[in-house]
Amino acid sequence: MCGIVGYIGNKEALPFLINGLKKLEYRGYDSAGFCIQHDGKLSVVKRKGKVKELENASKSLKITGHMGIAHTRWATHGAPNEANAHPHLDCKGAIAIVHNGIIENYGALKEMLKKEGHRFFSETDTEVLAHLIEKFKGKNLESAVAMALKLVEGTFGLLVIDKTSQEIIAAKKGSPLLLGIGSQEIIIASDASAIAGHTKKVVYLNDSEMAIISSNNYVVKNVNGKVVEKKIHDMEMTVQQIEKRGFKHFMAKEIFEQPLAIENTLRGRIGDGRIKLSIDVDVKKVKRIIITACGTSWHSALIGKYLIEKIIGIQVEVDYASEFRYRNPIIKKGDLVVAISQSGETADTLAALKEAKQKGAKTLGVVNVVGSTVAREVDFGIYLHAGPEIGVASTKAFTCQVTALLLFALYLQQQKGVLDKKILEELKKIPAKIEEILKESKNIRILAQKFKASKNFLYLGRGLNFPVALEGALKLKEISYIHAEGYPAAEMKHGPIALIDEHMPVVFIAPKDDTYQKIISNMQEIKARGGTVIAIINENEPYIAALTNHVIKVPKTLDILSPLLNVIPLQLLAYHIADLKGLNVDKPRNLAKSVTVE
Ligand code: M6R
Repeated sequence: MCGIVGYIGNKEALPFLINGLKKLEYRGYDSAGFCIQHDGKLSVVKRKGKVKELENASKSLKITGHMGIAHTRWATHGAPNEANAHPHLDCKGAIAIVHNGIIENYGALKEMLKKEGHRFFSETDTEVLAHLIEKFKGKNLESAVAMALKLVEGTFGLLVIDKTSQEIIAAKKGSPLLLGIGSQEIIIASDASAIAGHTKKVVYLNDSEMAIISSNNYVVKNVNGKVVEKKIHDMEMTVQQIEKRGFKHFMAKEIFEQPLAIENTLRGRIGDGRIKLSIDVDVKKVKRIIITACGTSWHSALIGKYLIEKIIGIQVEVDYASEFRYRNPIIKKGDLVVAISQSGETADTLAALKEAKQKGAKTLGVVNVVGSTVAREVDFGIYLHAGPEIGVASTKAFTCQVTALLLFALYLQQQKGVLDKKILEELKKIPAKIEEILKESKNIRILAQKFKASKNFLYLGRGLNFPVALEGALKLKEISYIHAEGYPAAEMKHGPIALIDEHMPVVFIAPKDDTYQKIISNMQEIKARGGTVIAIINENEPYIAALTNHVIKVPKTLDILSPLLNVIPLQLLAYHIADLKGLNVDKPRNLAKSVTVE
C-alpha cells in the first residue's frame, strides 16, 4: 500500500525522488521520507503527512547526491509519525531501507536482535530488516541483504543503500517492484507511475528476485544467487495519463474519462462483428467459473456472474478473495478461476489466485495495470486498458471490468455459435450514452447539496443492478464517510425496512426491466414509511413522481448493459457529496489505492 522509489544515475537524486513520491502518494499518504547517499554519508529526511511537507522540509537543507531511496507510507505497524516513517536505519546509521509489505516474524527477529545489542528507534516491522542487514554486514551489501532475507517471513518490495556502496539493492516477494532503465540512470519503483515520463523501458522483478543496481547496469539474481536474464518491456503509461487535466480531483477526471476508457477496453476486440480476445479458453471444457476479487472488483464480479449465467448458462460462483484463500476451496476439473483486480497487486486476490493455481485450476485475469503481478501470474488475461486510475475510489476500472466481463461472455457465446450481435451493437453505443449522463453532473451536485448532511443512506437494486447498489453504497461511504448499505430491494422487508424514517435517503436503481414492477412495489413500501426516495430510472412513467422525491434519468439500453449506465449517477452523487463536505476525495482517510497487505 506504500510507495517506493529509488534513483541512481548521473543527475541529482532528490528531484526524482520527490516527484516519484508525488506520483505514488495515492498508494499511501500518512508520512514520507527519503535517504540520499553523498560523500560517504547518508542524509535522511522524514515528515508526517503529505509528500509536500517532505518537499518543503528538504528545500532548505540543500541535499545533493546521485543515489537515493524514498517512501510514502500507509501505516501497518506503528502510528503514522516521523519515527515510523521510512527510510529506517541500522544502529550506526550506515544502512538505509525502504520497504513495502509486512514482515510477519518481525516480533521474534526483533527480540533476537535486541538480545544481540541492536537498538530500535521505531515500532515498525521494517526496522528489523535494517538491523538484520547490519548483522550480516561483514560481507558486501548484496550478500548481507540476501542473508537477512533468508530469515524473513512475510512480504516485501524493498530498496537498500549504505554509506559507501555505489549500488542500490532491490528485492521482491509479494509486493511489486520494477526498474525503469534510462541512459546512465535507473529508477526503481513500486509502481510505473513514478517512472512514466523518464523512460519507457522497464524490467519487472519477480518474487524472490534481487537486483543489484548501479547507474548504468543492473544484475538480477534468483534466491540461489544465480543470474536471471530479464526481458525489457515497453511501458504503455504516459505522463498525460497521470495528470488531472483541469479536473479538481482525479476521481472526477476518471468518472468523466469513462466513455473513452470503455472505448479503449473495446478497441480491437469487437471488429467486424466478432469478439477477438487473446485468450485460449475452450467453452466446451469450462464446467464452472469461479470469480474472485475484492471491493469494487468484487462488485463487478457479481455482475459478471449474472451476465455469464444469463447469456451462456455456465455456472458462476463469486468469492471474496480473502475468504476463498482460507476456506480450502473445492476446485474440480473444468473449473476456470477468474481474478479481477484494477491494480493487479491486491494481496488477497493474489493469494486466492495462487491457491487456485496450486489446486490445478486454469486462471484468467481481468486486470488494469499492465505487467502487474496478477497479470503475470494468470494463464490468460484481459487487460482493461482504462489508463491509470489514481483516485482511491475505483470508478473507470469498475465500468471497464464490467465491459471486459461482457466481452468474455460474448467470446464464450461466439464459440458456441450463438453470438448475440444485438448486445455487441448496443455495447458500442454505451460510451455515447455515458456522455449523456455525465451532462447531469451539475444537477447531481444540486442533489448532493441537499443530502450532504445525511448520516445514512440505503441503496437498493435487483438482479444485475443489485451489485450496482452495493457499488453506489461503497463509493459513498469510502469518500464521504456517510454510512451506506446496499441491498437487493426485496430484502428490505426482511429487516432493513425498520430503519426507514424521514432521515433515511433511499437510492433505488429502477430501470424498466423484468424486475421493474417489483422495484416499484418496494418504492411504495419506502414511501409509505416516510423515507426519501431518489430513483435512477430510464423511463419516466406518470406515477413515478408520486413515488419519488428525486429522479435521475439515464438513457435506455439493453437490460444486460444497464449497470454500465446506472452506476454513473451513483459515482457522481458520491463524488459531489464528498467534495461539498470538503473532504479529501482522492485520498480518503485510512485507505490506500492498492491493498498489498492482508
Ligand atoms: O486493485 P483491486 O481492484 O484489486 O482493488 C480491490 C479493492 O481494494 C478496491 O476495489 C477498493 O474497494 C476501492 N477503493 C473501491 O473504490
